Amino acid sequence: MSDIAATHQAVVSAAAQPGTDTDVADGQRPDTVLLLGKGGYGDFAREELDRMVAAVRSTGRYHRVEGAFLDQGTPVLWSTLQACAAAGARRILVVPVFVPMDRSPRIWLPKVIRRWLRRHPELEIEVLLADTLGDHAALGAAVCQVVAAAERQSDVRVGAPVDRGDPSWSANPLHRYHALFCLGPRCSTYLAGDLYRQLRDRLAKRGLNSGPEQVRTTQTGCLYPCNLGPVMVVYPEGAWYCALTPPMLDRIVEEHFVDGQVVADYTCPPAARPHKRPALEDGS
Ligand code: FES
Repeated sequence: MSDIAATHQAVVSAAAQPGTDTDVADGQRPDTVLLLGKGGYGDFAREELDRMVAAVRSTGRYHRVEGAFLDQGTPVLWSTLQACAAAGARRILVVPVFVPMDRSPRIWLPKVIRRWLRRHPELEIEVLLADTLGDHAALGAAVCQVVAAAERQSDVRVGAPVDRGDPSWSANPLHRYHALFCLGPRCSTYLAGDLYRQLRDRLAKRGLNSGPEQVRTTQTGCLYPCNLGPVMVVYPEGAWYCALTPPMLDRIVEEHFVDGQVVADYTCPPAARPHKRPALEDGS
């Protein structure tokens, strides 16, 4: 067992001593734990979350332990809840494992879980939501451990690679379009991460991922009209594409990025009044 897993097991065992608040009867204990992290570029977020999942699994206290991302990564909360339910989960504990958590997700997280439960009235399932990590006393102890463990570190210049600078970071490459693709929490819940990968894949196949005619793509945080997500804004036209689906994205690549025509059927331009969520390709 790794040091991290051993530490987690000790913490869980200590917290679950008879007579403590977490001393729940076996029948009431969640059968499933879902650790919810924040994503990011590259594989680091995934690897870190995997280590936390492995640590909780190693306690042997829960039947199933899974990880999901609030934003900027996959799998996301809804699809992971769905997978847990399909695997037989009856009592799922969702635990946010990132800091800090600001006001918006604190309010939104219980709402989006309730919304998922409303969409699945056929499921006999309970979903519990843990307090945020930043509000828990254990975080202070963990930080103190990290600080103490780092006291003997060397100066950051020891053994550092030579910093020659990278001229590419001073370039602003030519491009025909700039697509801002929202991977904020709400759009991510609507599977924006999968759509973003689809976009990158289609652009590569069309040879539009490099050179002066390229479509430059940028992942963003929340762009604001969350109820219309997944959202992508394309410049120079300033075309706001909303409620994107895989077929819509394919059509936008062909008509907008290849032929140069904004797909007006799918846009929700800035306006004084709220938009209705655009109809999907299947008419729903
Ligand atoms: S999360 Fe995408 S618009 Fe808010």
